[in-house]
Amino acid sequence: MVATKRIKTYIRGLDEHLQGGIPQSHTVLIAGKPGTMKSSVAYNILYHNAKNEDRSGVYVTLEQSRESVLDSMAGLGMPVNGLDDKLSVLDLAMIRKKLKDLSDQSWMEVFKMYVNNLKGSMDTGILVLDSLPVLEVMAKFEDPRDDLFRFFEWLRDLNITAFLIAEMDQDKMKFCEHGEDFLSDGIMHLDLRRDDRVVNLFLSIVKMRKTKHKRGYFPLIFDEGGFEVVTH
Ligand SMILES: Nc1ncnc2c1ncn2[C@@H]1O[C@H](COP(=O)(O)OP(=O)(O)OP(=O)(O)O)[C@@H](O)[C@H]1O
Ligand SMILES: [Mg+2]
Repeated sequence: MVATKRIKTYIRGLDEHLQGGIPQSHTVLIAGKPGTMKSSVAYNILYHNAKNEDRSGVYVTLEQSRESVLDSMAGLGMPVNGLDDKLSVLDLAMIRKKLKDLSDQSWMEVFKMYVNNLKGSMDTGILVLDSLPVLEVMAKFEDPRDDLFRFFEWLRDLNITAFLIAEMDQDKMKFCEHGEDFLSDGIMHLDLRRDDRVVNLFLSIVKMRKTKHKRGYFPLIFDEGGFEVVTH
């Protein structure tokens, strides 16, 4: 059997726990309620892969502007300076501008064209989509289950490792609305838990195809050294 190639998350403690990382070409949901550091965790993967592995990545932000994402990430010690040729951050304004020139095409077609172009020009290895529910709204999915099935198929054919951010409602345990959890190859769940007055962040690998892993919730810590999970 050929060993599965893996993409490191660069979250200390997690890669060892995942037999080295996330299988290449997997589509992984990063699910969590507001403020659980979903965007930061996803960007962390892109950033360190660009910096240490020379692997190109694209971060598509439909929620925040490109400047806002880059500012927050620089604040977390992950400045894009010097990595511009490896790490692209696209926002809605950029895609909208393109849409004006291509007004006969649907939003989804323009989005796919953008990603295809980047994939071709930079041999992009990782795609982050922040977030999947916003894409569903923008693309005006009529039959979400069917449209999502096609979208996941498109990602698979692209042969890209994709991280899709899924926003969870404050009061629910559901990762998503339309079966995205079944379609995805992996689910990373970020959860804030309150213990008296202290609120801590936890990470769990809910599923990861082709990977032996434990199912617990591990404390996720962020400091100058980056992200770390405590698995023992
Ligand atoms: N240095 C830090 N250490 C720990 N937590 C931080 C630090 N800087 C920011 N945060 C927390 O992370 C949150 C933002 O992280 P991020 O934007 O990645 O979360 P998110 O889950 O994507 O949020 P949203 O639901 O708004 O999209 C901030 O609201 C803050 O609570
Ligand atoms: Mg976010």
